[in-house]
Amino acid sequence: MGITRMIYMVTMLFSLLVSILSSSTVGFDYFQFTQQYQPAACNSNPTPCKDPTDKLFTVHGLWPSNKIGRDPEYCKTRNRRKRAKTLEPQLEIIWPNVLDRTNHTGFWRRQWKKHGTCGYPTIQNENDYFETVIKMYITEKQNVSRILSNAKIEPDGQSRPLVDIENAIRNGTHNKKPKFKCQKNNGVTELVEITLCSDKNRAHFIDCPNPFLPGSPYLCPNISIRY
Ligand SMILES: *[C@@H]1O[C@H](CO)[C@@H](O)[C@H](O)[C@H]1NC(C)=O
Ligand SMILES: *[C@@H]1O[C@H](CO)[C@@H](O)[C@H](O)[C@H]1NC(C)=O
Ligand SMILES: *[C@@H]1O[C@H](CO)[C@@H](O)[C@H](O)[C@H]1NC(C)=O
Ligand SMILES: *[C@@H]1O[C@H](CO)[C@@H](O)[C@H](O)[C@H]1NC(C)=O
Repeated sequence: MGITRMIYMVTMLFSLLVSILSSSTVGFDYFQFTQQYQPAACNSNPTPCKDPTDKLFTVHGLWPSNKIGRDPEYCKTRNRRKRAKTLEPQLEIIWPNVLDRTNHTGFWRRQWKKHGTCGYPTIQNENDYFETVIKMYITEKQNVSRILSNAKIEPDGQSRPLVDIENAIRNGTHNKKPKFKCQKNNGVTELVEITLCSDKNRAHFIDCPNPFLPGSPYLCPNISIRY
C-alpha cells in the first residue's frame, strides 16, 4: 500500500469515527429561558389546575436548544451533584408546579432530566441547573412579570397589541427579540409563555430563533393579546 493511500484510509477512518461520535451526542447552541403566565397556563391545560394561581410569570424551564435541527433531550449526566434542599424555598416561589402544587419536585426532576442534563458544560450538574435559574430570574432580573411592570404593563386581564409587550421585553434584554406563545381559550387569545434567549455560554441575550409560524395554534396575533 502506498503512503498516499495509507493517509487517505486513515483520514477516512478518522472522519467516520468523528461523525459517529457527534451523531450520538446532540449538542446545543443557545438557551431558551421560558416563563409561563400562571392563569393562562392553567386555562390552556386540558385538566384544570387544582389550586389558585398567582398573576405571575414563573419559570417553566431553561432549555438548551438548537437554531437548526432538533433540541437535545435526556442527556447523560456527567457530574452527579444533586440539587441542594436549601434551594427549595426559592424554587417554590420562582418555579412552582403550577399544574400541581403538591408536586413541585416532580416538575423540577422532569425539567432537569429532560433539559438540564443537556446543558453541559455551561450547566455543570443538577445543583448548578437550579442555582443558575434562580440567578437568572432574581439576580439577573429576568423576571418577565417585573420587566413588563417596568413598562407599566400589568396583569389586569386587558388585551393589548403584541408590539407593546415585545417592546417592554426588549427593554429588559438589550433589545433582543423574545419568543411568544399564545393560546386561544374561550374565544380569547391569551399570552401563555414568554421566552428569553441567550447564547450557549449565557453571556449575552440573542434574538430568539424559531418563532411559532402562521398556522401554529400557539402563534400570537399582532392585534390583541390578553395578559
Ligand atoms: C410527581 O411527579 C412525578 C413526575 O411527573 C411523578 O412520577 C410522581 O408520581 C408524582 N408524585 C405525586 C405524589 O403525584
Ligand atoms: C417578579 O416580579 C413581580 C412583578 O414585579 C413581583 O411581584 C415578584 O415578586 C417578582 N418575583 C421575584 C421572585 O422577585
Ligand atoms: C426600561 O428598563 C428600565 C430599567 O429596568 C426601567 O427603569 C424602565 O422603566 C423601562 N422602560 C420601559 C419603557 O420599559
Ligand atoms: C405582524 O407584525 C409583524 C412585525 O411587525 C409583521 O411582520 C407581520 O406581517 C404582521 N402580521 C400580520 C398578520 O399583520
